[in-house]
Amino acid sequence: MDKESLETADQVAETKREVAIRITMMPRDTNAHGTVFGGIILSYIDVAGGVEAVRHTGHDRFVTVAMREIVFLEPVFIGDLVSFYAETVKVGNTSVTIRVIVEAQRFGSHGQSVRVTEAEVVYVAINQYREKVKIKK
Ligand SMILES: CC(C)(COP(=O)(O)OP(=O)(O)OC[C@H]1O[C@@H](n2cnc3c(N)ncnc32)[C@H](O)[C@@H]1OP(=O)(O)O)[C@@H](O)C(=O)NCCC(=O)NCCS
Repeated sequence: MDKESLETADQVAETKREVAIRITMMPRDTNAHGTVFGGIILSYIDVAGGVEAVRHTGHDRFVTVAMREIVFLEPVFIGDLVSFYAETVKVGNTSVTIRVIVEAQRFGSHGQSVRVTEAEVVYVAINQYREKVKIKK
């Protein structure tokens, strides 16, 4: 595939996926070895999934009940532009399951991305008293 068709394929994929968050990693996000803390990525995964849960259901109050196994495949470095793509997998009675895919675009790489991790996160809809409530379908 030539460069032009690669870009076109990327653009098509980009338009089908919802970016919940896109953020550049800063020195404050790193450990002593110069790579980003896994916990920083986890917290953004949680937020990105929450954004999708609200977008998809129209309900505005959720708590995270479960984050399923998360394996980090590649490191994230300072300056990487990290995208958190989120899609709804399942809407249950009171819960919603969201898949979040994390990709890092290396600083100065002209758009080349690596898959960092992916996760399934389950949220439960609650009311102002923190009681679980049914999600309207
Ligand atoms: C989330 C919470 C409201 C659930 O209350 P609960 O009475 O135990 O709820 P239930 O067991 O009836 O489960 C509610 C839903 O969550 C789902 N769920 C519960 N535990 C789950 C788990 N470990 N994995 C996946 N889904 C789970 C259930 O399947 C159910 O989904 P459904 O209604 O769509 O069928 C309660 O456990 C809670 O407040 N937890 C703390 C959440 C929080 O503060 N998170 C941030 C931590 S810092």
